[in-house]
Amino acid sequence: MAAAAPAMRAGLVLVAFLLLAASGAGARAEGALPRFAEAPEYRNGEGCPAAVAGAGVCDPGLVHIAMTLDAHYLRGSMAAIYSLLKHASCPESLFFHFLAADAAAPGVGELRSALAASFPSLRFEIYPFRADAVTGLISASVRAALEAPLNYARNYLADLLPKCVPRAIYLDSDVLAVDDVRRLWETRLPAAAVVAAPEYCHANFSRYFTDAFWSDPDLGARVFAGRRRAPCYFNTGVMVIDLRRWRSGNYRHRVEQWMELQKEKRIYELGSLPPFLLLFAGEVEAVDHRWNQHGLGGDNILGSCRPLHKGPVSLMHWSGKGKPWDRLDAGRPCPLDHTWKSYDLYIGDGDASQASAPSWASLSSSALPAAVFSW
Ligand SMILES: *[C@@H]1O[C@H](CO)[C@@H](O)[C@H](O)[C@H]1NC(C)=O
Repeated sequence: MAAAAPAMRAGLVLVAFLLLAASGAGARAEGALPRFAEAPEYRNGEGCPAAVAGAGVCDPGLVHIAMTLDAHYLRGSMAAIYSLLKHASCPESLFFHFLAADAAAPGVGELRSALAASFPSLRFEIYPFRADAVTGLISASVRAALEAPLNYARNYLADLLPKCVPRAIYLDSDVLAVDDVRRLWETRLPAAAVVAAPEYCHANFSRYFTDAFWSDPDLGARVFAGRRRAPCYFNTGVMVIDLRRWRSGNYRHRVEQWMELQKEKRIYELGSLPPFLLLFAGEVEAVDHRWNQHGLGGDNILGSCRPLHKGPVSLMHWSGKGKPWDRLDAGRPCPLDHTWKSYDLYIGDGDASQASAPSWASLSSSALPAAVFSW
């Protein structure tokens, strides 16, 4: 529930922003972050775990969400965060762990300010991720965006997050939650499982690896022999990861070993996903498909419109080439992009000298307190 005071504050922020833009005082250096509206504030409901005084990030009542953060996908991240808070029964119990490339602009300080401006009471930490640590391991893939070092940051979650964090939900920046993420958090992980994710056993698993992989007697089917179940495709954009088991099994090293082999032999075409399939296919704990309604960005080449899969929806995922913010800006949104738009906090480009005045039409009515519009 949005309190009246934050609604007023958001309204004041907007008015102040309009005055600044009109006077030209809002002009900022080139490369500045886009501007985002303040999200309505949300409070824990009845029955939420009470915060343990002084426990901070180690508080056992927290739900830990890990995401990457960069300028390119910031608009997606903002919408994703907003959607998670909005649908959470205990939004104040969410703790966000953001991985940001260390050498890239914007810096951690700027990202921190942008998050705090849109989500004043958000509990989060930003971890600088050393992109050069993976650059040497990345091989060319089918889509250039899949080669970005930050895509590989999920391999390093267990190294970067505090040791007291027992598990984390990793989410891509192009997702939207439409359900309480605590339900995903409470996924049971049996003793053998390190990762839980929705599995897609109808997908042709063979095509995620090259002929060179399948025809190599040391690789191919042999890699998956002895797994708990037949190997199935799963998407790494939504995963529950047991960080303690990940650490004790030294999975970061095991991912890197596959990436090194890929550089020698080209055993797959996609970016950061296949090493996860190699390590966990047939071993992941299956999660209900409602938690990753993926593929809404279309394929990796055209980014065409795709409908939701059958069944209930808790999380929508614009995986693929087409991102809702790009298609909306281009004036060619897919039907489901309008759902994403209702969580879009974007109000303009960072460089006010180039940006036109904010268009009221571009402000999403459901993403902002009604008070803003009734003034
Ligand atoms: C699965 O993909 C492989 C490799 O692309 C292909 O050879 C095989 O025929 C496909 N199988 C099915 C059942 O479509």
